[in-house]
Amino acid sequence: MIKLLAINKKFEDRNVLNNISATFYKGKCNFVIGASGCGKSVLMKCMVGLLTPDSGSISFDQRDFVSMDYEGKKSLRQEIGMLFQGTALFDSLSVEDNIAFPLRTFTNLNETEIIERVNFCLNRAHLVKINKLMPSQISGGQKKRVGIARAIALNPKYLFCDEPNSGLDPLTSRVIDHLIKEITEEYGITTIINTHDMKSLFEVGDNIIFIHQGNKWWEGDKTQIRQSGNKELLDFMNASEF
Ligand SMILES: Nc1ncnc2c1ncn2[C@@H]1O[C@H](COP(=O)(O)OP(=O)(O)OP(=O)(O)O)[C@@H](O)[C@H]1O
Ligand SMILES: [Mg+2]
Repeated sequence: MIKLLAINKKFEDRNVLNNISATFYKGKCNFVIGASGCGKSVLMKCMVGLLTPDSGSISFDQRDFVSMDYEGKKSLRQEIGMLFQGTALFDSLSVEDNIAFPLRTFTNLNETEIIERVNFCLNRAHLVKINKLMPSQISGGQKKRVGIARAIALNPKYLFCDEPNSGLDPLTSRVIDHLIKEITEEYGITTIINTHDMKSLFEVGDNIIFIHQGNKWWEGDKTQIRQSGNKELLDFMNASEF
């Protein structure tokens, strides 16, 4: 479980996140939704330590991340898998080497064990026989799956996905949604997904936080959205092709 308490973040003198408190649950796909520029990626970057909030606390299963020292943060980061907006694979590394990268960087596994783990993760992402291909030789959907395989390489407790469906066709998007959901439930991961894809939310979303102009505007589960009476949320939902 991840808990945010009163997170604030400003750039120059512009508030981007205002007093955001939220809870993200284990074994669930926790969605953060909202219009472009509302602050989803900034919030996620604060949670993984790429940005530091101006105030507030972020706790990972009761461990306060913001106040941790460098070593503490480094070790907690190894429990975090991240699927970036875009795919962010290393273009000069093969699929196999992309997935092996975190294993080579953070573990003492030998090469045989590394390749075994790579194959396990590839298999888990429903990919076979593409070990030696370069990212430029595979499709967008396959790249996302390689990204997922890499994100789960270290057996993460927490998985962050920033717009996992961006640039994918609707069918491939559903495949990716279900893959993330399957992995989340199977390994009991606390998964956070930023998106404006309402289809994705209705397909696999468990808990939802709606951000409007840097404020947490609504939270609940998907069955409550239509009856929420929340104008901005309903406008947001109705504006998406869905
Ligand atoms: N490093 C930065 N310096 C200054 N402003 C920033 C920085 N990063 C983000 N912002 C601003 O913070 C606001 C929120 O950006 P953010 O990337 O979190 O939006 P988002 O909700 O993820 O949007 P999208 O759906 O388009 O990805 C934007 O106005 C953006 O310009
Ligand atoms: Mg974003």
